[in-house]
Amino acid sequence: MTHDLPATGYTDGDVDTNASEVPSLEMLADQRYSRRQALFRGAGATTMAFMGTALLAACSDDDNNASSVTISAGANAATSSGRVVTLTGTPANGTNGVATAWAQTSGTTVTLTGTGSTVSFIAPAVSTATDLVFTFAVVEQGGHSQTAQTTVRVSPNTLGFTAVPHGLADVVAVPSGYSVTVMTRLGDPLSASTAAYANNGTDTDFAHRIGDHGDALHFFGLSTAGARDDTSSTRGLMVQNHENLNVQYLHPNGPTNVSTGPRPADEALKEIEAHGVSVSEYKDAGSRKWAYVQNSTFNRRITPNTPMAFNGPAAGSAQLFTAYSPTGKTGRGTINNCANGITPWATNLTCEENWAGYFRRDVADDAKRTVREMTAISRYGVTSRTGNFAWSTANSTDSIYTKWNATITGATAADDYRNEFNQYGWVVEIDPYDPASTPRKRTALGRMGHEGAFVRAVAGQKLGLYMGDDSRREYLYKFVSSTTYAAADATSTSRLAMGDKYLDAGTLYVAKFNADGTGKWLPLVFGQVPNRPVSGTTPEYVFADQADILVNTRLAADAVGATPMDRPEWTAGNPVTGEIYLTLTNNNAAGRPLNGTDAANPRHYNDPKGASNTAQYGNPNGHIIRLREDGDTTAATTFKWDIYLFGADATDADPTNVNISGLTVDNDFSSPDGCWFSRDTNPAGQINPVLWIETDDGAMTDRTNCMLLAALPGKVGDGGAKTITNKDSTGATATQATIAGKAATAATLRRFLVGPVQCEITGIDMTPDGRTLFVGIQHPGEDGTVTAPSSHWPDSQAGTAAATVRPRSAIVAITKDDGGVIGL
Ligand code: FEO
Ligand code: CA
Ligand code: CA
Repeated sequence: MTHDLPATGYTDGDVDTNASEVPSLEMLADQRYSRRQALFRGAGATTMAFMGTALLAACSDDDNNASSVTISAGANAATSSGRVVTLTGTPANGTNGVATAWAQTSGTTVTLTGTGSTVSFIAPAVSTATDLVFTFAVVEQGGHSQTAQTTVRVSPNTLGFTAVPHGLADVVAVPSGYSVTVMTRLGDPLSASTAAYANNGTDTDFAHRIGDHGDALHFFGLSTAGARDDTSSTRGLMVQNHENLNVQYLHPNGPTNVSTGPRPADEALKEIEAHGVSVSEYKDAGSRKWAYVQNSTFNRRITPNTPMAFNGPAAGSAQLFTAYSPTGKTGRGTINNCANGITPWATNLTCEENWAGYFRRDVADDAKRTVREMTAISRYGVTSRTGNFAWSTANSTDSIYTKWNATITGATAADDYRNEFNQYGWVVEIDPYDPASTPRKRTALGRMGHEGAFVRAVAGQKLGLYMGDDSRREYLYKFVSSTTYAAADATSTSRLAMGDKYLDAGTLYVAKFNADGTGKWLPLVFGQVPNRPVSGTTPEYVFADQADILVNTRLAADAVGATPMDRPEWTAGNPVTGEIYLTLTNNNAAGRPLNGTDAANPRHYNDPKGASNTAQYGNPNGHIIRLREDGDTTAATTFKWDIYLFGADATDADPTNVNISGLTVDNDFSSPDGCWFSRDTNPAGQINPVLWIETDDGAMTDRTNCMLLAALPGKVGDGGAKTITNKDSTGATATQATIAGKAATAATLRRFLVGPVQCEITGIDMTPDGRTLFVGIQHPGEDGTVTAPSSHWPDSQAGTAAATVRPRSAIVAITKDDGGVIGL
């Protein structure tokens, strides 16, 4: 199938994969043997290896500890995709007066770096063992020239590292042969005039600092001239979400009256501004020596106070009217930014996830609301009487504080903040290259607990956006643009105008997963959506118009009969097959009881935890479901699905009914959250792309801190139907049929990273060349106190840190010491 993902320019390099069409290595050896003897020193020993068969074998698919290879001219060697190959030549007469050069003779074209007698390249993606032939030429004084050929057999990519074991240490652990560089951390200054972060609670001005709880991230390339450059692997803009707070560490002695107020305004301001999104410039000083640029003019903070525009069908809706925005077309701020999406035109989609809890509604508010309003408020859970961190109680009348109180106090919606919560729960588009641009909330994508928005862009098709709604028993959504995607739009410099073109008009769908492995996208279109029926004591909800459906998307999805899932988190698209992966992080016994399973959410079981075997019933370890659109089109209304992986604690899980994917201690995991495929601009994202899985777990943390795994995931339908027996806390059992993907093996799933104490691993991207992986470490030490921090990361990364050092969320840059592609 044709497939074009954002910001790549990738062309399938698989042009020379049939090894039978090139001379055998043994034939080449015979042809060259005598020439080599004359040209090169030390030929004897090299020749023996060269003539042997071991070096010529294709690499196995379980090649731990893979590293670069160095090959002398005339010798041959084998490697696999993504690894560094260095070619060296040594003229017999020395270098004096001798010109030497390497050139590629045949095989998949690679870029040679270096000149003269030593050059190197990254082994390209191949689908079968493929020979690349290079010629080393020597021109001696007097013009006499000789050549020698070297053949490199490249095998398909493998996971080329040793699995990182379970770990409870306060460090980021990566495989041997890899290094960790701590990049932007909570509080790091983003302007020349902002002081270094003291990390003792005295710091202020988070409008010019990296925020807390770094979540999704993306590296937007910059040229040396400072323009958008999707191919740059040495300079770029790191755009990161800041979801929430470890509030205990933000003030000298912890927060004041954080549960109920009153709050000191200076404390509340710091906490508000530590949310949102950051843009920071990252630069490689050479050979992947990364640092951020404190005084870059691109650096920016977007916070809950930043002006926003509303776009799409709900813009101007009376449900969005506030005292700040009496026409409902503008807004102020973004909150609880979780996962993301990246458009082909290089904008960032930040997703507002668990926003409901930030709002206060006093008891008296309930009686002032209409029945319809109360139905919506209940469905979205805007039920707090204080709001998270009680910001509205700050000792100030400034509406940056008072807007968090949604209690009706004025005559109309333009007189108070009764609708402020309707201004959140959206996907927000940001142009990272224009620090002065106003972010746009794309209401056509619906309002929910938006986790992420993977964008699938295929030239000649509609744009498809896949979006999870992260709460128990919520749904998977898809937005299909009205406009057919034209690849030329990817390079437009009017980036937010491209968003207007593709993201403001289209059809929002919600997924229904059938028991037989088929599925259906149900349109959420006014006129086609029935009334949301009575539910318990909640009355029927009658939709007024499309804006009402978009503001109250969950009610519409209920009405059409979507499938409630085990907490939909990130979505990711396989850049080769187009298949969509969705992490379902976990569910509890109330959300997924024994008699409440279905084929797509099939498990109810116990994962005993800790020395006391504390019971954890429901689906505490989560699973990853995937789907393939029928006809492979983004606009398809039907699909096929299977469950790619089931999380499990391999040590104590029932191997038949719980550890269905056959996990071992080298790849077991619980509560998958972030998921992302390697960029398709390098061998880790081509032909057989690497899927990265991040965890946000509390169920298996008796054995290990949260982690990042690398996978080579196969495809929908590579396993088969399976019936499992579930068991609840009373011992009652029930069977459930499902469709399981092929079981995991050491070759297809391996733990790559374990994080520090009480962290979540979230946010991931790589440079286009695949040689640096950026990973977010969120909320280390989240259960600690200001007097006894439970983590000291990232200070602890370099060794034991003082017991009083406060932890900080941060991004790490992970590089392979030999310069190869990460994971391969
Ligand atoms: Fe913010 Fe669903 O994690
Ligand atoms: Ca366990
Ligand atoms: Ca998440």
